[in-house]
Amino acid sequence: MEADTVPKSWVNAARMRLPLPNGGTESLGSRIIELPQDPALATARDPKSAFIAYVPPGSVAKGEMLATTGGGKTISCTVCHGDGLKGFGNIPELAGQHPIYIARQLFGFKAGTSKSAAAQQMQKVAENLTTDDIVALAAYAASQAP
Ligand code: HEC
Repeated sequence: MEADTVPKSWVNAARMRLPLPNGGTESLGSRIIELPQDPALATARDPKSAFIAYVPPGSVAKGEMLATTGGGKTISCTVCHGDGLKGFGNIPELAGQHPIYIARQLFGFKAGTSKSAAAQQMQKVAENLTTDDIVALAAYAASQAP
């Protein structure tokens, strides 16, 4: 969900991010914040508990532009990850993936944390991406039906 402001949140002892009780709202900025729709269900580990990933306004459209054209700073993701980012051969599916996971992977490729031949293909893709680009790509990929 694109949003300018999000509920203020905290991370509990089980490392789950939850809205602060009576905590008000804060600016989202260039972040992805993921919160349970129902904190009581989530903390009870109810498998039907749903989560909302808040992303900055305009990020899904910007991510689509970067993913399909490369936007002059990267290679089109669909060339390797397939139409709709649904994966191709042994190249992983991105559609419907957890957006924070996608962003974390992109920061890792950019920093060169893995030296495998497969990861080196992604290092070239990620080297010129800014934080805003990574957030936008993660928002777009996560918004696509798997
Ligand atoms: C030249 C081919 C190529 C292009 C272009 C490419 N990727 Fe990849 N991508 C790969 C390969 C290969 C892997 C698997 C890397 C590994 O196993 O370490 C991968 C892995 C990933 C992963 C990790 C997925 C997971 O399940 O852990 C993400 C996220 C990702 N790519 C995002 C992107 C985005 C976003 C773009 C476009 C900006 C893009 N990729 C463009 C080849 C490509």
